[in-house]
Amino acid sequence: MKKYSKIIAVAAAACLMVGALSGCGAKEEAEQAAEAVKEEVKDAKEEAEEKVEEAVDAGKAVIAGDTYVMGCSADFPPFESFDDDGATIVGYDVDMMNEICSRLGIELEIQDMNFDSVVTAVQTGKIDFGVSGMTITEERKENVAFSDPYFEAYQAIVVMPDSELKTYDDLVNGEYKAGVQLGTTGDIMATDVLGERVSQYEKYSDALAALLSGKVDCMVLDLNVAKAFAKANDLVLLDDPFGGEEDIEYYGIAMAKENTELLEAVNKALADMKAEGFFDELDAKYAEE
Ligand code: ARG
Repeated sequence: MKKYSKIIAVAAAACLMVGALSGCGAKEEAEQAAEAVKEEVKDAKEEAEEKVEEAVDAGKAVIAGDTYVMGCSADFPPFESFDDDGATIVGYDVDMMNEICSRLGIELEIQDMNFDSVVTAVQTGKIDFGVSGMTITEERKENVAFSDPYFEAYQAIVVMPDSELKTYDDLVNGEYKAGVQLGTTGDIMATDVLGERVSQYEKYSDALAALLSGKVDCMVLDLNVAKAFAKANDLVLLDDPFGGEEDIEYYGIAMAKENTELLEAVNKALADMKAEGFFDELDAKYAEE
């Protein structure tokens, strides 16, 4: 704007000069000056056009005002679950993504899906973010990119209050059956150790129903979610984790591998939010749920 008004002022001065000097032999000089001003205007226009193009290029990954879709399996309290209205998805992941998207100047839409569809949905561009309390694993990293970690978990075991199953060793050495959500790290770990004794369900609600009706003897799932299920359904969380200390997991936000600008923007927002204490607030809000 500033530059243009300066150019216009110079152009006006040049026009005046053309008028004043015409007929006194300096006309040519004035015309040259006017020509030079024209050139300057042209350059400034080109420069401005280039800037717009650059901005559009950079904006390919994060287009302000656009709607970005997050996919999750909304059966995983306190990270994502349906509110009492049965329609709104709420939780830790939702709060986190709302904050990230507001920092990026983009709109967030949330879609419920089966957990084992989330990675493919990101990979095929059906959704922009896979945010589902999803553990960063080497296998998943072959298909999607992950943000920096934002939460830590391990696999826990939940049983009915009157269960004879009391330790990890009981589970491994006995005849007990375990329910898991299909495609989760709990599924992978439990199937590895228990084989046929594992039943896979598409949603945790189905695994829970199987536990409550005695079809399985326990559920293997992420600690914080195990706590939430135990509290809501009067279940017992075993002291032993499933597996060992080395089986610690970190949650990340899955994005398309090609979209490196989006990944960088999300990581920057995450880092700022960590530094500003946003996650301490989230942890406090959702602890013990
Ligand atoms: N953290 C585990 C995994 O990544 C379980 C995630 C399940 N998430 C869900 N929203 N049901 O495999």
